[in-house]
Amino acid sequence: MTTDTTYLLGHDPAELARLEHQAQILAPATTTVLQLAGIVPGMRVLDLGTGAGDVAFQVAELVGPTGSVVGVDQSVQALAFAAHRTEQRGLTNVSFLHDDLRTVPITGQFDAVVGRLVLLYLPDPHDVLRRFAGLVRKGGVVAMMEYEMAAAGALPPTALSEQVGFWVTESFRRSGLDPSLGARLAQVMRRAGLDGATMLGLQGYCEPGDRTGPRMAAGTIRTLLPVLGKTGIATPAEVDIETLEDRIAQDCAHHDVIFKFPTLVGAWARVA
Ligand SMILES: C[S@@+](CC[C@H](N)C(=O)[O-])C[C@H]1O[C@@H](n2cnc3c(N)ncnc32)[C@H](O)[C@@H]1O
Repeated sequence: MTTDTTYLLGHDPAELARLEHQAQILAPATTTVLQLAGIVPGMRVLDLGTGAGDVAFQVAELVGPTGSVVGVDQSVQALAFAAHRTEQRGLTNVSFLHDDLRTVPITGQFDAVVGRLVLLYLPDPHDVLRRFAGLVRKGGVVAMMEYEMAAAGALPPTALSEQVGFWVTESFRRSGLDPSLGARLAQVMRRAGLDGATMLGLQGYCEPGDRTGPRMAAGTIRTLLPVLGKTGIATPAEVDIETLEDRIAQDCAHHDVIFKFPTLVGAWARVA
C-alpha cells in the first residue's frame, strides 16, 4: 500500500471540513447523476476516492439496507473521518478500504462503480477505471463525476471573480491536472473500454447575498495556497486569504451578480 504523499489537496481538518461543505452543495447534482445512472436498491457498489464518505452515504441511501457500499481511499485521515460519520449516521451497509486506487489488489464482483472528483488526481484515469470496470458484472454501471472548473465564476463577471477563477484553474493546470476533466469524461470512459457514456453537466448558482458560493471559493483557495505560492501564480499578500470570503461576498452583493459554482459533470455507462 502507498500513502497519499502526492495528493494535491491534502487532508488537514480544514480540508475535510471543506469537502463536507462542498458535498452539501453537490448533493442534489450527485443524487441526480446516481439515479439517472441506475443506482437502485440492493446494489453492491464501490466508491472510488471516497474521501470523507459523502458519495458513499448518498449511494447507501439509494441502495438501501439490502445493498452495500465500499469506499476506497488512500488517506487515513479522510477514512477515519468517514468511519466516524458512518457510525454517527448508524449506517451498517457502508465500509471503507484504505489503499491506493492505482495498485489496490481488490477482487470481488460489484453491480456498480462510482466516483466523484477523484479521476482528476490520477495520472492515468482510464487505466484505473478499466481495472475497476472489470469488477462490475455484465449490465452493471460505471458512473463518474468530475468538475468543469472553467464554468465557475460570476454572472456578469467581475474582476475579483475572474481573478479567483484563474487562481483555481491555473493551480490545477500548473500541477499537471486538467481543470476541465469533467467535459472529457466520456473520452476517459471510452479509453477505459466503456463506450457510449451518457454525459450531463449540472451547475448550481447562488444569489447575491448568499455566502455559500463565496465560502466555497475561499475554502478552495485556502487549500490551494501552497500551490499558488509554489507555482508563482499568486503571493499570500495578493490572495489575503483571511479577508477573501468577505471580499467575494461583498463583490457579489455590490455588483448584484450571481455566483456560478463549477459544473459537476456526470458520465455513466453500462458494462457490456
Ligand atoms: C477531492 S476528494 C473527493 C472526495 C469524495 N469523492 C467527494 O466527492 O467528496 C479526492 C479524494 O480522492 C482520493 N485519492 C486521490 N488519489 C487517490 C489514489 N491514487 N488512491 C486512492 N484515493 C485517492 C484523495 O485521498 C481524496 O480523498
